[in-house]
Amino acid sequence: MNAVPLESVLLVKGTVIPRPSGQENSKMATGAVEVQAKDVQILNTCRKLPFEIKDSVKKSESLRMQYRYLDIRSAQLQYNLRLRSRMVMKMREYLCNQHGFVDVETPTLFKRTPGGAKEFLVPTQEPGKFYSLPQSPQQFKQLLMVGGLDRYFQVARCYRDEGSRPDRQPEFTQIDIEMSFVDQLGIQRLVEGLLRYSWPEEKGALPDSFPIMTYAEAMSSYGVDKPDTRFQMKITDVTAEMRVLSIGYVQEALSKSHGCVKAIRVPEGAKYLKGKALDSTLQTIRDQYKQDIMAVTVRSDGSWKSSLGRNLSEELQKVLAGVTRAKAEDLLLLAAGPLDTACNALGKLRLDLASQLEECGVPLRDPSAFHFLWVVDFPLFLPKEETPGQLESAHHPFTAPHPEDMALLYTEPAKVRSQHYDLVLNGNEVGGGSIRIHSSELQRWVLQDLLKEDVNLLSHLLEALESGAPPHGGIALGLDRLIAVIVGAQSIRDVIAFPKSFRGYDLMSNAPDYVSTEDLQSYHIQVTPKE
Ligand code: AMO
Repeated sequence: MNAVPLESVLLVKGTVIPRPSGQENSKMATGAVEVQAKDVQILNTCRKLPFEIKDSVKKSESLRMQYRYLDIRSAQLQYNLRLRSRMVMKMREYLCNQHGFVDVETPTLFKRTPGGAKEFLVPTQEPGKFYSLPQSPQQFKQLLMVGGLDRYFQVARCYRDEGSRPDRQPEFTQIDIEMSFVDQLGIQRLVEGLLRYSWPEEKGALPDSFPIMTYAEAMSSYGVDKPDTRFQMKITDVTAEMRVLSIGYVQEALSKSHGCVKAIRVPEGAKYLKGKALDSTLQTIRDQYKQDIMAVTVRSDGSWKSSLGRNLSEELQKVLAGVTRAKAEDLLLLAAGPLDTACNALGKLRLDLASQLEECGVPLRDPSAFHFLWVVDFPLFLPKEETPGQLESAHHPFTAPHPEDMALLYTEPAKVRSQHYDLVLNGNEVGGGSIRIHSSELQRWVLQDLLKEDVNLLSHLLEALESGAPPHGGIALGLDRLIAVIVGAQSIRDVIAFPKSFRGYDLMSNAPDYVSTEDLQSYHIQVTPKE
């Protein structure tokens, strides 16, 4: 029996007896007992495994993915997947049993939805005709409202062909929700209740309601639309203080439209972040955002040093110290440039430097803290990246304008705010939704006249809106991201049983794979080899 390899499957018959005194293991649920075996059978002998099933044994992610069925045996994945299952069960209970929601499955073979993420195509046997895999059940959930199922929810699988990242998978899961006769606050209260109800007890209680921040405030104070509010280092405006200086490039930045000077104070930054490492971090940001960054350090004796040289007069030091509250051993970073660029660059630096400080042992973010935040009043449209003269939806084209900005819709659409809200947890976007346009006329105008989309693709939705559609709105929680933050996983791959690799592959089965020419023929597809 000694020769049975680890991880083999045995059938043991015997008597459960207490362990000899002193040999109990209080860390195991069954640590006080053992089985006195009378009969042992080997049901299956385990071959030599590619890695030991122990969380402490280091293995590359590709090996873990290739043998995912073994990786799932690890204590961490067992915990993650079981917690996910527990939470989904509680969510179903809350929505269906306590709030009258109906769980409806919607198709995954569908057609292209204009705007938004790139979709995967599915060939059909009709020449030239393809299905699209839905990036979300958005259209269906709105159509269900028209159908009178006034409270819909689904644990919905979504597909987006936009490359993998730690917080992104080509297929992922949403807790998808839609309600009729609801407003923004109604959805927010529902989601807060849902999360409180399903929240794992061991992670501590959640507050009754989550703080709300406008998009404008998020961008100006944190430089991102999903602020990590667990720590300070907020962006401060120092435009007025810097305007009086005759520094050439500050003056040049201020002479342009939306020119400003912004700063962040990195507590103890001068002590821990210096030399080549800091220079390289700053250079990366300069290159990425095309935004110059000035570094000012406060030495331990309180004297200041910076790339501003003589321009950093004593008077300016006093003013900057007053605005930013900089003290000995702090680092100040200043960006003079267009408002969005300066804030975005400092926002990224804020996060990068926080991680670097933490690596040096400065406790900034409590890993056991959960800071939920609603971000609201997003712009309805944003300039298209490739053609900034044109607009695209900031969320999706079905989002309703902010009622206070309706008049601007036909005159200055770029200034219109929307009824779109995002749910942010510790700096991650874990949900997004909106109140929808329920007027067919307005929806047609937004699609056709503003976004220049082909409305024929959405004629069914436009007709439905003309058929007595109630006002409605909803949200989708990104289940994978939510669970990943709760369990402290570095990537959502660690909360998905069979995730795709960084390149979108299933390393266990080798999908996607080639198909035979005969199979392709029935789809009328010919593959041209890559040159
Ligand atoms: P949105 O596109 O904001 O909204 O998606 C909702 C949430 O889904 C998660 N998410 C993802 N998770 C993993 N991998 C991805 N590739 C990925 N993309 C998005 C995020 C995000 O907040 N139909 C609308 C919702 C609505 O308006 O009701 C929608 O899909 O956590």
